[in-house]
Amino acid sequence: MPRLIVVSNRVADIHSTGSASSGGLAMAMAGALKEEGGVWLGWSGNATDNGDGEPEFSTRDNVTLARIDLSRQHVEEYYNGYANRTLWPLFHHRTDLTAYEQSFRDSYLDVNRTFARAIRSFVKPDDVIWVQDYHLIPLGRELRALGVDNRIGFFLHIPWPARELFVTLPQHADLVWSLFGYDLVGFQTDKDLAAFRDYFHTELNAHPNEEGLIDMFGRRLLAKSYPISINPSEMVDLSQTEEASSSYRRIRKVNAGRKILLGVDRIDYSKGLLHKFAAYNRFLEEFPDRRGTATLLQIGQPSRDLVAEYQDLGEDLIAEAGRINGRFGRLDWTPLSYHTQSYGRDALAGIYRAAHACLVTPLRDGMNLVAKEFVAAQDPDDPGVLLLSRFAGAAEQMTEALLINPHDKEQCADAIAQALDMPRAERIERWKALDETISRSSLSAWKEQFMTDLRNLGDVNTPPSGNVFAF
Ligand code: UDP
Ligand code: G6P
Repeated sequence: MPRLIVVSNRVADIHSTGSASSGGLAMAMAGALKEEGGVWLGWSGNATDNGDGEPEFSTRDNVTLARIDLSRQHVEEYYNGYANRTLWPLFHHRTDLTAYEQSFRDSYLDVNRTFARAIRSFVKPDDVIWVQDYHLIPLGRELRALGVDNRIGFFLHIPWPARELFVTLPQHADLVWSLFGYDLVGFQTDKDLAAFRDYFHTELNAHPNEEGLIDMFGRRLLAKSYPISINPSEMVDLSQTEEASSSYRRIRKVNAGRKILLGVDRIDYSKGLLHKFAAYNRFLEEFPDRRGTATLLQIGQPSRDLVAEYQDLGEDLIAEAGRINGRFGRLDWTPLSYHTQSYGRDALAGIYRAAHACLVTPLRDGMNLVAKEFVAAQDPDDPGVLLLSRFAGAAEQMTEALLINPHDKEQCADAIAQALDMPRAERIERWKALDETISRSSLSAWKEQFMTDLRNLGDVNTPPSGNVFAF
């Protein structure tokens, strides 16, 4: 079996099951790599004076982590800048927050070249390279330019934007062109794939075939959707750990006699946290007899806090939580318990299980693994209810959740009441269907499908003469 090299900006501490994950990508790739073994290359998280681009290797069991320091300027312009102030807001349809700075773009390309050089220094002829997410879109092209002709796949963990918005990016054509450095490009949902195909139809008058094959720039690319998931058995195992039992007991004790509505999100404007708070506020207004019967426990995992929009959101959320508690709170009841901290995944498993409902309200989200983890952690005999935004990628599969529009406060408030009142038989019926969905399309199956497609592509991509990307 060829060796797998996974490349992503963020790498996780793969050797510690209890540690918190910085987002779904790190959680998923840690799971996938533990099964398959291989090398995981990414940013160390350090910002140094010059960032020499030399990977530092550490190996345990079957996984080698290769971490690269970046210079302060690159962290500012590539990570905080192009990745998180240009591509992230644009791909989440927040053109109002999108910064179009040439220096960000230059550093983005520089860092992608640094990653490419690092890979070239240790790649072996049979290795399969799997690049992850929006930080590294041009990496495939940079690798081709260095003469790396291995099989290379790319997976986008965030949504692909609608064409009308994507074309506001000054270098949109170059970004799409760079994707032809890959043999296979994967998206989270059929909707993302359709938006990607629409770009080719409308901007390039090019027509991917039914299978998703596109021939352009002297290369052939296969574009397909592969909805990412979790390994449900891992969540079940985590929910049986001592840490999970302890967090379960503490939450149930503190909220004795009350139902628990749960939210678990990175503090990110794409997650619709302010919309969630507004919906909860409306629920308390509309159903005065329900006050004191439930508490919203919201975990806000700190994220990208050097970016101004994230700092602003953090402050707004604290203010809004205070306003709701000031308005509705009583001596014996805090309506909204908001914690800005990260929890280990074992503690989280207990928190999921203790909740009676989970409110997942993104305005736009590639998939949302919290929704799937919540389902997997439930007690089959007394499961909680999932409220899921129709704008999360997960909604394409998880149709038995209570699907909500987070922009519609009234609908969300009614859905909260419906979840709290839902008879056990209906909760079990909905949960069984959701659990079946996530068991059928597990993280292992996701990785297997992508890797099988990547390995089976055939030698379609050998350019006729020389390397088409070497200019
Ligand atoms: N997570 C965690 N600790 C926390 C909050 C979240 O480990 O305190 C994990 C959570 O278990 C999930 C991931 O972070 O695996 C979040 O993934 P999701 O796809 O929901 O959203 P993302 O943050 O990637 O946008
Ligand atoms: C999302 C992105 C990931 C990213 C994660 C956490 O899941 O798709 O690429 O790693 O958020 O964000 P951070 O900026 O902390 O890596």
